[in-house]
Amino acid sequence: MTSIRSILTGVGGYLPRRCVSNDELAARLETSDAWIRERTGIGQRYLADESETAAFMGTQAAQAALAYAGATAADVDGIIVGTSTPDQVFPATALRIQAALGVTGGFGFDMAAACSGFIYALSVADAMIRAGQARGILVIGSEVYSRILDWTDRGTCVLFGDGAGAVFLQAGEGSGTSARGILSTHIHAQGSLGDILYVDAAVGQSNRPGTLKMNGKEVFRHAVTKLADAVDECLKHNGLLQKDVDWLVPHQANKRIIDAMGKKLGLPPERVVVTVDRHANTSAASVPLALAEACADGRIKPGDLVLMEALGGGLTWGSALVRM
Ligand code: UT7
Repeated sequence: MTSIRSILTGVGGYLPRRCVSNDELAARLETSDAWIRERTGIGQRYLADESETAAFMGTQAAQAALAYAGATAADVDGIIVGTSTPDQVFPATALRIQAALGVTGGFGFDMAAACSGFIYALSVADAMIRAGQARGILVIGSEVYSRILDWTDRGTCVLFGDGAGAVFLQAGEGSGTSARGILSTHIHAQGSLGDILYVDAAVGQSNRPGTLKMNGKEVFRHAVTKLADAVDECLKHNGLLQKDVDWLVPHQANKRIIDAMGKKLGLPPERVVVTVDRHANTSAASVPLALAEACADGRIKPGDLVLMEALGGGLTWGSALVRM
């Protein structure tokens, strides 16, 4: 039986204009290019200037995704933005983007699920399309973590970068695992682990903006086990095997975690999309940015089966499986 499916018709990304190398950070912090590369795989990151806000970058990525899909503002029924670094408390970043795109109807809201924000937003958008509530939804991850980093803490500030990625989902029809569209999404959270990765100030409770705090070793340990479980859950749900997956597009936090997930899926390194070396960890933007890059350069092709996964503060984590 055919049913409504969310087809991923467009992808796009935006990176800030300024690229900052590890050496540039090492000039003002007690760190080194060698340490950062060896422990994380990161070689550089892009950092936003004043004008490159989450809304600005999200708009650029969304415009690219609409152009890729051959769609216009009139095709957009809703906008969901995964971000933990919105321009303002409200209006939602999604609505600033709606206005900038010239979208005049529909809905928009932000989702705060830290680095899993894009997977969470994709999951909600997919459910809305399958329920018949919308036919075209922009799903965006846009982050400016440079504004919430403690630039004197070498344990965190070297790890993150800024950027935005977007996909356009459109209602279509299909059935089975070989037809185009989102085959499944799975999202999870464990609030009891909230203190291993968080921002240390609440709105209205401090006269300074908060900064990101992380127990890196603990987050690493949970990332490896929870993402491995998420991969198993995704394959089992769809009755698929490791070998059926063409591409892994993982969250880009640490090359060592990415390698572990590639191994788990039995995928050769060339089937795992890696951007962490150039983008660092762009939180909710990392998965759609990596997807956009691999689609634009022709690696990911129509018909390919793509598994995406992410884990972030909350803790939150999840997966999405898409036939392109
Ligand atoms: O996106 C959300 C999900 N986030 C993640 O998945 C991040 C998960 N965690 C990680 O990727 C890793 O735990 C880190 C990259 C954050 C850290 O790597 P690690 O191998 O766990 O290192 P560590 O924190 O245990 O630090 C080892 C040493 C320490 O020195 P001592 O105590 O052994 O003397 C740190 O002080 O490295 C030191 N260190 C640094 N040295 C040079 C920490 N940061 C730096 C640095 N440069 N930037």
